[in-house]
Amino acid sequence: MKETNAENNSTGCPASTAELSRRKFLARLSLAVGSVGAVIVTVPVVGFLLAPFFERRQEVWRSVGKVESFKIGETTAVQYEDASPLPWAGVTARSAAWLRRVNADTFIAFSINCTHLGCPVRWLAEANLFMCPCHGGVYYQDGTVAAGPPPLPLPRYPVRVKDGDVQIQTAPIPITK
Ligand code: FES
Repeated sequence: MKETNAENNSTGCPASTAELSRRKFLARLSLAVGSVGAVIVTVPVVGFLLAPFFERRQEVWRSVGKVESFKIGETTAVQYEDASPLPWAGVTARSAAWLRRVNADTFIAFSINCTHLGCPVRWLAEANLFMCPCHGGVYYQDGTVAAGPPPLPLPRYPVRVKDGDVQIQTAPIPITK
């Protein structure tokens, strides 16, 4: 059989120059689309895998209210912005804690998240207990576990009073230490 420069198409006929250039174009297009797809998939995966090595634990003091707005002996829900909100976080950048005013200048702040699976716990003043609605976890008023599945007490945040403001030291989510 005689050798030619042109390739044969699927029917055995010599391929035209136009068909060859179309094949080349489609091959290059497939390569380019495949490369872009690989980059789109690879970059987030690599970022996710490397993030723990570059993560800085950023703890920030957040004001949660004026001292006089809290009554001695009461436990109140307070809200604050998470220590490392992402630009697209929206309302999820808001977090909360339970704040108790023990006396004139002593406060205790508890994480609002249950140590079992993270549901927000509720303070029941009449029972002096924190209750978790998800699986029935119960905590005493000092945050220690009274009953149910929680493996650990409610974490506490450092609290200080500065310039008349009550401030709690918050950390990026996950907020339990
Ligand atoms: S999440 Fe609170 S008991 Fe399960």
